[in-house]
Amino acid sequence: MEGMEKEILFSRDAINQRITELAADISRDYAGKELVVVGVLKGAFIFMADLIRRLQTPCVIDFARLASYGAGSTSSGQIVITKDIEMEIRDRDVLIVEDIVDTGLTLSYLVQAFKERGPRSLKVCAFMDKRLRRKVVFEADYVGFTIDDGFVVGYGLDFNEKARFFPDVYIVTNL
Ligand code: PRP
Repeated sequence: MEGMEKEILFSRDAINQRITELAADISRDYAGKELVVVGVLKGAFIFMADLIRRLQTPCVIDFARLASYGAGSTSSGQIVITKDIEMEIRDRDVLIVEDIVDTGLTLSYLVQAFKERGPRSLKVCAFMDKRLRRKVVFEADYVGFTIDDGFVVGYGLDFNEKARFFPDVYIVTNL
C-alpha cells in the first residue's frame, strides 16, 4: 500500500519468542493427545505454520474461511462460513487458530458452530487480541499478543489484502 506510514509493533524475533512460549503451553495442555488444528483463512496461515512446527503434540490440520457482511469495514454481526473444514471433528480435540480477535463476532460464531458438531474439546489460539473493540464477550484460550486498539498489519494481517507478507507486525500510523 502506497503512502502507508507504519511503526514496528512486534518484531520477528519477539514473534518467534512468543510463539515458542505458546507452543510450549499448548503442548503441555494436550500431552498425549492428537490435535485437530483449524486455521481461519486467510490471516492465520503464517501464524499457524509457525505454531504447529513448534508443537510437541502431533496434529492434523484443516482450514475454514468466514465472512462478515454489513456496511463498511466493521462487522455487522452477520457471519457466514464460506469455506468449511473437511474433517469430522466429533470426539476430537480441536484448536482453532486465528490471527486476530477484534469484535469477537467471527470466533463466537465459529466456536458455536463447531460445538454443535460434538468435539471432545474446543479451544482457540489467537495471535493477537485487540481488546477494546469487542461487541460480544469472547476470550481466546491462548493469546500471543494483546493490544487495545489500532490498525495492525503484517505476519498474515492485511490492509485491503496488502501487507500480509511482512515478517514483522506494524501499526499503521496514518489511518
Ligand atoms: C479478520 C480476522 C478475523 C476477523 C476478526 O478476518 O482474520 O477472522 O477479521 O474480526 P472480528 O473479531 O471483528 O470478527 P478478515 O475478515 O479480515 O479476513 P482475512 O483473515 O482473510 O484477512
